[in-house]
Amino acid sequence: MKLLVTGGAGFIGANFIHFWLRRNPNDAIVNFDALTYAGNLENLRDVEKHPGYSFVKGDITDPIAVNSAMNGVEAIVHFAAESHVDRSIDHPATFVKTNVLGTQVLLDAALKNGVKRFHHISTDEVFGALTLEDATKFSELTPYNPRSPYAASKAGSDHLVRAYFHTYGLATTISNCSNNYGPYQHPEKLIPLAITNLLEGKKVPIYGDGFYVRDWLYVEDHCRAIELILKHGVAGETYCVGGMTENISNRQIISKILQLMDENMSMIEEVSDRPGHDRRYAVDWTKINTQLGWQPQHEFETGLEETINWYMEHKDWWQHVKSGEYKEYYKKQYQS
Ligand code: NAD
Ligand code: DAU
Repeated sequence: MKLLVTGGAGFIGANFIHFWLRRNPNDAIVNFDALTYAGNLENLRDVEKHPGYSFVKGDITDPIAVNSAMNGVEAIVHFAAESHVDRSIDHPATFVKTNVLGTQVLLDAALKNGVKRFHHISTDEVFGALTLEDATKFSELTPYNPRSPYAASKAGSDHLVRAYFHTYGLATTISNCSNNYGPYQHPEKLIPLAITNLLEGKKVPIYGDGFYVRDWLYVEDHCRAIELILKHGVAGETYCVGGMTENISNRQIISKILQLMDENMSMIEEVSDRPGHDRRYAVDWTKINTQLGWQPQHEFETGLEETINWYMEHKDWWQHVKSGEYKEYYKKQYQS
């Protein structure tokens, strides 16, 4: 099979390319990525020489570039997006352009080129926020209620994907996944930010009261869910994907990291809260479990230890990322 992976130089996309080529070594993958601040070809050094792997630098909002990358492609796995909530608060227009317009350009090209499956990677953030007391979780039946420009732009892209299925018969699937963590995640996101700051002897910034809850999933478990959906998922369907953490707050996560890294609580720094900060996410993944047999394989504690070890062993990787554009972003975001 020949796959077009958009955003394959980012965190989950790169993990997915490694995962797919390990398990399907005879397949071909075209990695189509604009190499924004979040795209990093260092993430793909290990697969660069694989005979089935190729890279095209291009922007998903550019119909000519997108069309020419689709030659012979049977399936698209669409990761490319602006993915950071804090940046969406500062620059919403970029998020609308890439996440909404970019997805529509890709859908159009997929239709024109007779692509057999379009899998769209989305997020649980489209469902809005739960309270700490809510007994329910997000599921495929939860109404959309996005609350940040990032979440709203991902919701827009999900609606377009469904519209192309119903209106034009394009064979689409969507996965709405919770917070991923693991190797190659940009240090702008909470877990790698905490680990790398501690490795640099810096404090970990925690937003507001720190009693915010996310549903954490090791990135390889997400990749396995995508593989199952591509191979056995039903066109027109949506699958919610989530982890095994029950109501673990940001404070608890940071405490766990501090403990695993032999640091103490004085390394936490309370900073201003994120505007419109969603209190809690939790995902009910019964559908993908019962229909496709998926469940997470990594316990949070072991996944976190593996992640810490990865960042300890890949100092060059994150020091390089932190020394570029991110330096200016960090100064502005954390006033330090
Ligand atoms: P990331 O920010 O690490 O990577 C995004 C990639 O997309 C980068 O390589 C970037 O260069 C590329 N890109 C951005 N704009 C582009 C454009 N206009 N054209 C082509 N390429 C472009 O993101 P991630 O964390 O790996 O997330 C990947 C996808 O998964 C996103 O769609 C995100 O919404 C979704 N998602 C992420 C998480 C998470 O926890 N990280 C959870 C659920 C869903
Ligand atoms: O839920 C899935 C989403 O998870 C994905 O769709 C997004 O692409 C991904 O970025 C992630 O969004 P979050 O906003 O949940 O992730 P982030 O790592 O930015 O923040 C996680 C939590 O930690 C959140 O409650 C905000 C908090 N936080 C974050 C940073 C960067 C802090 O307390 N301090 C920080 O410095």
